[in-house]
Amino acid sequence: MKHAVTYELLKKDSRTKARRGRVHTPHGTIETPVFMPVGTAATVKAMRPEQVKEMGAQIILSNTYHLYLRPGHEIVREAGGLHKFMNWDRAILTDSGGFQVFSLGALRKITEEGVQFRSHIDGSKHMLSPEKSMEIQNALGSDIMMAFDECAPYPSDRDYVKNSLERTTRWLKRCKEYHKDTERQSLFGIMQGGMYKDLRYESAMQVVDLDLPGYAIGGLSVGEPKELMLDILDDCVDYLPEEKARYLMGVGSPDYLFEGVERGVDMFDCVLPTRIARHGMAMTSYGRVNIKNAKYERDFEALDPECDCYTCRNYSKAYLRHLYKCDEMLSAMLLSNHNLHFLVNMMGNIRKAIEEDRFLEYKNEFYTKYGRF
Ligand code: GUN
Ligand code: ZN
Repeated sequence: MKHAVTYELLKKDSRTKARRGRVHTPHGTIETPVFMPVGTAATVKAMRPEQVKEMGAQIILSNTYHLYLRPGHEIVREAGGLHKFMNWDRAILTDSGGFQVFSLGALRKITEEGVQFRSHIDGSKHMLSPEKSMEIQNALGSDIMMAFDECAPYPSDRDYVKNSLERTTRWLKRCKEYHKDTERQSLFGIMQGGMYKDLRYESAMQVVDLDLPGYAIGGLSVGEPKELMLDILDDCVDYLPEEKARYLMGVGSPDYLFEGVERGVDMFDCVLPTRIARHGMAMTSYGRVNIKNAKYERDFEALDPECDCYTCRNYSKAYLRHLYKCDEMLSAMLLSNHNLHFLVNMMGNIRKAIEEDRFLEYKNEFYTKYGRF
C-alpha cells in the first residue's frame, strides 16, 4: 500500500546527526530540515497565502481543535477541504487537538474514551477522541494528520507519565484503525514519555511498531530547562528509524532549531515568530529587536540589514516603531512577514550548510552574530 507521505534521506552530516532530506506529500515536496509556519485558524495570522509562499514556506500547520469549534469541520469539508477553503495549495499538517484540549486546564476531563472539554469560546460541551480527531482531520484533508495524544505537563511524576504514554499508544492504535484513506493523507505517530528516558524508549518502541509514515516527538519544550530538553531529545531521535520523517512539535526559536537539526530532527513548528511579531518583537541576524524601544525613534535603517524580505527592503525601524505605537494593523503584517522570512530563510541556509558539510561552522557563525537567545 502506498503512503500519501514518504521520506527520502539525501545526505547525513559527517560530524552530527543532522540530515538533509525530502518529505513527499500530495501537495508537493518539502525540503528538510523545515520550519512550518502556524496557521491555527486556517490563516497564518496577518499574512496572505501568497506572501507565505513567496518567502519560501513549503508547508504550514493548522489545528483540529480550533477548526472543529469554528467554523466546524463539516463546513470546511463542504468548502472542498482546508487547502481550497484557505487558498493554500502547498502541504498542510494538522495537529490533532490533543495538545490544545490539554491546555484547557480545568475545562477538561480525560477518560479512556477521550477528552471531554468545554469550548474556550462559548463554554459549550464537547468530546474529542482518537476517532473524532481522525474524522475532523479527514474532513479538513490535511496531508499529514497527527495522532490524538496526551502531552503530560512538566513536571509530572513517573506513574502519571507511564499511564499517559500507554494510553497515548492505545489512542494511536485507534487513530490508525479509523483512518482508511492512507493514499490521500498520512498519519504521524507521537512519542511521549515526559522527562524519563526509559519511558521515552518504551513509547518509541510502541509507536514505531505501528509502522507509520512519520513520527513526532511530543511533550518537549513544556517548561523544562533547556539542557534537560536537549538531553532527552538527543535520546529520542536515536529510538526513531532513519527512513522516516522526524518532527519535533512546538519548537521554533532559532537556537532550538539549530539544536534540533543537530540531533537529527527534520520538521519543526512554532507560533513564536508570528506571536512575537504582534507584540512588536523581531528576530534578526543580530538578535532580538524590540521595535517599541525609544532608541529606534530616529533609526531610519532596515530592521535587519542582512534580510531581503519585503519589510526590510522597504521600511525603516522608525516607521515600524511608529506603526506599532499607533496600533496600526500594518505593524503586525510587516513584522510577521519579516519573522517568518527570517526563520524560513535560516532553515534554507541550514539545508545548504548540511549539503556542503559545514553545518557546525554555520551554527557557530549564526550564534556568534545572534548573541544571547
Ligand atoms: N504541540 C507541541 N507539543 C505537542 C504534543 O506533545 N502533542 C501535540 N499533539 N501537539 C503538540
Ligand atoms: Zn526582513
